Amino acid sequence: MFNYLKRRCERVVSFSEKGMQMKLKFQYLALTAATMLLASCGGGGSEEKAAADSAAKPAETTAAAAAPAAAGAASAAAPTADSTDTLDGAKLASVTPDAAHGKQIFMQCKTCHAVEAGKNMIGPSLAGIIGRAAGTVTGFNYSAANKNSGITWSEEKLFQYLEKPMRVVPGTKMAFAGLPKAQDRADVIAYLKAPN
Ligand code: HEC
Repeated sequence: MFNYLKRRCERVVSFSEKGMQMKLKFQYLALTAATMLLASCGGGGSEEKAAADSAAKPAETTAAAAAPAAAGAASAAAPTADSTDTLDGAKLASVTPDAAHGKQIFMQCKTCHAVEAGKNMIGPSLAGIIGRAAGTVTGFNYSAANKNSGITWSEEKLFQYLEKPMRVVPGTKMAFAGLPKAQDRADVIAYLKAPN
């Protein structure tokens, strides 16, 4: 009876030893697996970074390539100083101007421009603007774009400019979208010829 119990006990011990060994082996495996996982995580991380880097580079290149293209498009769209071509195809000569209505249109310009000589506001004085070279009002700090435009403000050039100032003088600091109606442009030009 004692012997039987002893044998049983030994079997239990050896069984539990085996269990321990298995447990250890499992822990080792788990550790190895975890290490491998970590290693692969690290590897994956740097691969991801490399992928992100190479993804960022073409994007930068594309942006850099697009910028000059856009600038080219902008300068291609900007008419030469001599050109008086309008976007709407209208000609000043084919519009009958109404200076009285032009005075009303000038209300839109008044926040920034005065018609009195020497009175500069956000924009330069527009006294004697017809026939004047662009960027020449003394005491007004023009943008390089306006100053170096090479424009002389003929009535036809003003008619083109006022349609969309930023197209005609790209980079101008005149924050005004323009007068899309040919009649309004002709009218305000008639007013500027003889402001009252
Ligand atoms: C929000 C302010 C603002 C409004 C509104 C505005 N302008 Fe201007 N304008 C300016 C500024 C600023 C400049 C100078 C541009 C530069 O130096 O790039 C300018 C420049 C000009 C010039 C060129 C002057 C020169 O000496 O070369 C003309 C012409 C002109 N504006 C006409 C007009 C007319 C006409 C209107 C209304 C239909 C108008 N502007 C509305 C701010 C304005």
